[in-house]
Amino acid sequence: MRILLTGTSGQLGHALLPHLPATAIVHAPQRAELDLSNAAQLRLCITDFKPDLIINPAAYTAVDLAESEAAQAHAINAIAPAIMAEEAHKLGAGIIHYSTDYVYAGDKADAEANWQAYVETDVTAPLNVYGKTKLAGEQAIIASGCQHLILRTSWVYSNFGKNFFLTMLKLARERDQLRVVNDQWGTPNSADWLAGATCEILVQLQQTQDQSSWWQEFGGVYHLSAAGKTNWSAFASRIIALADEEGLLGKPAPAITGIPGSEYPTAAARPHNSLMNTRKISDKFKLAIPDWEDCLRTCLHSMVTQHYKA
Ligand SMILES: NC(=O)c1ccc[n+]([C@@H]2O[C@H](COP(=O)([O-])OP(=O)(O)OC[C@H]3O[C@@H](n4cnc5c(N)ncnc54)[C@H](OP(=O)(O)O)[C@@H]3O)[C@@H](O)[C@H]2O)c1
Repeated sequence: MRILLTGTSGQLGHALLPHLPATAIVHAPQRAELDLSNAAQLRLCITDFKPDLIINPAAYTAVDLAESEAAQAHAINAIAPAIMAEEAHKLGAGIIHYSTDYVYAGDKADAEANWQAYVETDVTAPLNVYGKTKLAGEQAIIASGCQHLILRTSWVYSNFGKNFFLTMLKLARERDQLRVVNDQWGTPNSADWLAGATCEILVQLQQTQDQSSWWQEFGGVYHLSAAGKTNWSAFASRIIALADEEGLLGKPAPAITGIPGSEYPTAAARPHNSLMNTRKISDKFKLAIPDWEDCLRTCLHSMVTQHYKA
């Protein structure tokens, strides 16, 4: 299988690379070789390499900056996936594309105002430019008629790259007090778990004789997320408590105060509720869904192991 993998300098792309089947021929160009905002370059890359599968974790992910760089965000999050899908369709290839909880308005609740997890068929209504461009990318892939899996995930972190988890660890080493938003709810997802889960699905595809029937039966939009629910402040507390247990702080843990999002204004509006129901993906692919705290422990533990190895 020939796989074109984007975004390997990012959290998820970096995590995917070692999980891909050893038998696959993988082409994973960096931005210097393939700029996704360059449509002609992207088409050429695909027609030259002729992938059987495109895996696209690359994205414009600077959520606040996207408010003032909408054209650039649209080029990478909407136009590039549209081109990938169009070229994949011509080649008879498939695409695994990642999307986001930010396609939803984040206000799904029951009559008692308890947050309810979104299902894939819920109405989308992104609150910000990033969410709108990611939704446009999804829509273009679906409209192209190509074989696709669109995996919506949320709150991605890793011990590699730029993310909330590493920011909290850094701040915990520098400060005695932290103020973190506590009225936005969701589920953190480790890039490593997301990559492993994607590749479990990929193995199922590889083992199938009739791959076009497989895409017909299994293709579509899915939520790919760990289980459980937290808010950013509680997530920060858990990161710091576990890091302290692992001896990663080197000083007493800071005190964490929960604050409403209104006290931490950002350029882009954030959803209050990012919870995603994962029954569809777990049923379809017999995928075991771990608790988010177990993935966090694994991620922190891998940092300790790497530290001792270094
Ligand atoms: N991060 C989250 O919390 C989160 C939440 C929900 C969904 N998602 C989705 O999950 C997926 C993976 O996210 P992530 O956190 O792994 O992203 P990330 O760490 O920000 O990585 C993004 C990747 O995209 C590449 N990229 C951006 N613009 C490019 C361009 N013009 N040409 C070529 N490459 C370009 C980056 O390359 P450079 O290093 O060269 O910039 C980087 O490798 C994305 O689809 C994202 O929308 C993420």
